Amino acid sequence: MTRPTLTQATGPAHTRILGLGGVRGENVVTNDDIAGPIDSSDEWIRQRTGIVTRRRAGAGTDVIDLATDAANLALKDAGLTGADIDVVILSTVTYFHQTPAGAAIIADRIGASPAAAFDISAACAGYCYGIGQADALVRAGTARNVLVIGAEKMSDFVDPTDRSISFLLGDGAGAVVVGPSDTPGIGPTIWGSDGAQAHAIRQTHSWLATRDEGLGWPTLRQEGQSVYKWAVWQMAPVAQKAMDAAGVTADQIEAFIPHQANMRIIDQMIKTLKLPESVVVGRDIADTGNTSAASIPLATERLLREGQVSSGALALQIGFGAGLVYAAQVVVLP
Ligand SMILES: CC(C)(COP(=O)(O)OP(=O)(O)OC[C@H]1O[C@@H](n2cnc3c(N)ncnc32)[C@H](O)[C@@H]1OP(=O)(O)O)[C@@H](O)C(=O)NCCC(=O)NCCS
Repeated sequence: MTRPTLTQATGPAHTRILGLGGVRGENVVTNDDIAGPIDSSDEWIRQRTGIVTRRRAGAGTDVIDLATDAANLALKDAGLTGADIDVVILSTVTYFHQTPAGAAIIADRIGASPAAAFDISAACAGYCYGIGQADALVRAGTARNVLVIGAEKMSDFVDPTDRSISFLLGDGAGAVVVGPSDTPGIGPTIWGSDGAQAHAIRQTHSWLATRDEGLGWPTLRQEGQSVYKWAVWQMAPVAQKAMDAAGVTADQIEAFIPHQANMRIIDQMIKTLKLPESVVVGRDIADTGNTSAASIPLATERLLREGQVSSGALALQIGFGAGLVYAAQVVVLP
């Protein structure tokens, strides 16, 4: 028998971010509010991290609520409704259901069903992982519009007595719609992982140990100095590769929007990348804290809302974190 030749999908040549929305946890938590149990101070936290306050959600708000609110704002900004969305990607490490995926619940809440829906676990690189996937799905013809959401309620993973990472963490969600474009709006994604350093940012113990060894609720820990060095020395070359792959130079970038991990890491990356002073830098960490997968879209939302950058600006974004994993791309802002 002659076997038929399959039809494979093909899509539009270009994609862009069509709309963006973000929400932050409703409570403002100061350094003084959290310094006591870790024998720290407002001054120490400001100097080492640049964080002045962090935003955290109350008990009545979960990560799906944050994600849904951000998704609805992104749809409105794009001039679309849930019915226009073919795929919902939720990037999170703080949705505490093994199954089903949070993305399917969000798809239902925003009226996107029967959109395909799945979660990805790429921690602080999760938003840029999602953008890379959305771009590929649209250009492959597998979807027309993809909703990418980075959402975290990191406060659920916080141990108030932990000095290593908990004081950095905040809650929020940022979402974008990625869809077809007449001109290129998302540069190639440069991404990767280094599982040999999985221990550098980790959960204290597994859910199995929680059940079998009576260890209680797991929380987050990090090896701060190793993460700092990795981020500073190894992530700038990744960001440079993203610019090279997109065919742009540092002096053509209008905004630099790195993961909001730590202000000192952001400052060092600017130096290493030799970004000119004209480049506007996302520094949302000062008031919002580190919101993992939500941090880049939230920093972007703020730059646009405050008029620090305009629609159409070229932005270099890079996410990096637990895995260790990383992803970067140059995008045209919506
Ligand atoms: C976490 C971080 C702020 C800690 O700063 P650091 O300078 O590396 O801190 P160290 O562990 O070297 O400790 C330095 C001193 O501060 C103290 N210290 C550590 N954590 C502290 C805290 N939370 N509050 C107050 N003091 C603290 C230490 O006891 C030590 O005191 P000593 O000098 O008297 O011995 C820093 O390592 C960092 O920013 N790392 C990157 C973290 C990051 O961005 N993670 C997110 C990745 S997604």
